[in-house]
Amino acid sequence: MKNILYDRCGIEIPAEKKYLFKTRLSDLLAQENIPTFRELHSRLQVDDGRLTELLIEFMTTNETSFFRDDHPFKTLFSTIIPNLVEKIKKRSFYGPAGLRIWSAGCSSGQEPYSVAMTLMEWLEKKTICSIDRISILATDISEKILEKAEKGMYTENELKKGLSDNMKEKYFRKNDMCWLVDDKLKNIIKFQKLNLAETFSGKLDNFDIIFCRNVIIYFSAKLKRKIIDQISDLLNPGGVLILGASENLYNISSDFETRHAGRTTIYYRVKK
Ligand SMILES: C[S@@+](CC[C@H](N)C(=O)[O-])C[C@H]1O[C@@H](n2cnc3c(N)ncnc32)[C@H](O)[C@@H]1O
Repeated sequence: MKNILYDRCGIEIPAEKKYLFKTRLSDLLAQENIPTFRELHSRLQVDDGRLTELLIEFMTTNETSFFRDDHPFKTLFSTIIPNLVEKIKKRSFYGPAGLRIWSAGCSSGQEPYSVAMTLMEWLEKKTICSIDRISILATDISEKILEKAEKGMYTENELKKGLSDNMKEKYFRKNDMCWLVDDKLKNIIKFQKLNLAETFSGKLDNFDIIFCRNVIIYFSAKLKRKIIDQISDLLNPGGVLILGASENLYNISSDFETRHAGRTTIYYRVKK
């Protein structure tokens, strides 16, 4: 199972976290009526893909929240967008190209929706271009989590994790027991299944900003390099990569210069 998980989606479960197989896959056994782990292992050898998808779904960590860590979104608002807009204005910010953002490993959508809200807030203050010049691609390996992301339906508790009352009022509306994301955010985001462990650079257009946070953290250094190389190719000149709070590019890539914003934010600007 360890090998299947590694080969299919690049995730390496470290020895000290081996218990995760037992805790997470017990639910899979129960759901699929599979009596033992040995039996699951045998079935995976002759699987047509369905069980492997489930293995990935049960073993991946989907933890996320709105405006996770907060400061990267503040930096997006105060520094990254204004700097990029100056560059893009010389390109075709008013034309069809606009600003392109990718949330790679978007989980249940809180990250791309937070990016969309940040952009909306920025455009409200600087009416420099219309929102339809902005597009966000949000991808994940898990179809199930993408379905949830695309619905844009969240519980009160999910909203409480990171969302201010002001943003809730502005961008969500209550529907029975849930909260629905406003269409003006949904309209600029496209959700798509994409496995970062497979070659993806030829399948995507270029971007100005790429969020790849808390996704490649459990990947091998070799796979991290392969992914970051493709991300570097996909970024437009001056484009920016934002990683998770405990991730960095040390020993992974020299294609980027490290930028600091405030006391806490680090982001990476491609050297081209
Ligand atoms: C912990 S969540 C991070 C979500 C969000 N980026 C954040 O920081 O809040 C990690 C996500 O990466 C996805 N993931 C794991 N392996 C992947 C792969 N090989 N390709 C694409 N997505 C993957 C998981 O399905 C999960 O939704």
